[in-house]
Amino acid sequence: MEQYAIKGGNPLVGEVEIGGAKNAALAILAAAVMTEETVIIENVPDLRDTMAMLQAMKSIGIQVEQLNRHTVKINARNISDLVIEDDCIKKIRASYYFLGALLGKYKKAEVALPGGCNIGLRPIDQHIKGFRALGADVRIEHGLIITEAQQLKGGHIYLDVVTVGATINVMMAAVMAEGQTIIENAAKEPHVVDVANFLNSMGASVKGAGTDVIRIKGVQKLHGTEYAIIPDQIEAGTFMFAAAVTKGDVTVKNVIPKHLESISAKLMEIGCEVEESDDAVRVVAAKPLTHTHVKTLPYPGFPTDMQPQITVALGLSRGTSIVTESIFENRFKYVDELTRMGASIKVEGNTAIIDGVPKYTGASLTAPDLRAGAALVTAALAAEGISTIDDIKFIERGYEDFPQKLQGLGAQIEKVNTERELQKFRLKVG
Ligand code: UD1
Repeated sequence: MEQYAIKGGNPLVGEVEIGGAKNAALAILAAAVMTEETVIIENVPDLRDTMAMLQAMKSIGIQVEQLNRHTVKINARNISDLVIEDDCIKKIRASYYFLGALLGKYKKAEVALPGGCNIGLRPIDQHIKGFRALGADVRIEHGLIITEAQQLKGGHIYLDVVTVGATINVMMAAVMAEGQTIIENAAKEPHVVDVANFLNSMGASVKGAGTDVIRIKGVQKLHGTEYAIIPDQIEAGTFMFAAAVTKGDVTVKNVIPKHLESISAKLMEIGCEVEESDDAVRVVAAKPLTHTHVKTLPYPGFPTDMQPQITVALGLSRGTSIVTESIFENRFKYVDELTRMGASIKVEGNTAIIDGVPKYTGASLTAPDLRAGAALVTAALAAEGISTIDDIKFIERGYEDFPQKLQGLGAQIEKVNTERELQKFRLKVG
């Protein structure tokens, strides 16, 4: 019965180190198969999703050596198979990155249809459209996406929606295509830029990542590299909002403040002080929180992956707030859980109308997905009394040492495995 037991009410105070970006790491690990030379990747977060990715790589004969908890050495020289249908990989969304990476290098890939969080329809039509524009054949058979090409040729792709996954996937496939590829209406997220930088460090020629037009000149071969992944914008943002809801004072360290601007701006709007330095951001929540409106948008807009966390904060903010989810259509499932903690939130379509309440009270909760799960943890930290959170496997997909990092800020949270451990926690926290 793995769950988190949380006693709320303590303001979070102190400093917390942010790890490498999950969504950059997942793509970069896949991209590492594109060279036969050795690649060393640093700042890889130790998460269920990254471990599933490495496991899938091992399953097709790629050498993977963990040099330390966050550094991994990869060599794909002896790759034995281009079919990835390992059980773990079916559960993660980013498995689709093997399509672009393997197609780019070996002109063929077969990958189990991606899983990931159930936050709405998650089509991959734009990935497929991009691969086809490069001359690949793509079909779906027996639960696998199969793509192959005699030869990949650079193409001109206009993405119909701004998609991080398709932008990265098509970019990877195009890196070793013949000639020039142009991706228009590309996603601009920091991890798109990170993957481009990684590919360039292997000898690729990718220009314009971080703008909405990416230009790729195909090269014949990629070489080995050593590369450090950028810090995780969403992990940092989650701790920043945890500071806000617990009326705390938290410094997130090892971050790129520029990547956090939309998050910092909303925190200031609702009454927090936010201080930026070179690689840290401090959030102080000394005043009562006030309402605001927010709409999730592709970067540099407010991230959809921070939508549950801001909703938790607005649920405790004076006045009426409106949160509009414009990226995924089913991302308010956690609102029922918050309601059971005393929140007053009405969801209509892709909009949540939130009437701030003075407090939440602890309850037995279930994490519906990764980010909503983390947001429920922050709600429980702010709540009066004890909460338990089930299905923490979702949270562990994206947060390394979450309870330990929160404990370091003064939170009363423990991972418990049995009813007895839960009772012990109850007795300890009083
Ligand atoms: C990635 C992130 C996820 C984040 C999301 C948006 C990973 C592993 N996951 O997910 O945490 O919430 O970006 O920042 O990096 N779409 C299509 N067709 C496609 C692809 C996407 O219509 O072929 C739509 C989606 O339904 C969604 C929007 O485009 O409405 C954005 O999706 P996308 O950016 O691709 O998200 P993911 O890559 O799945």
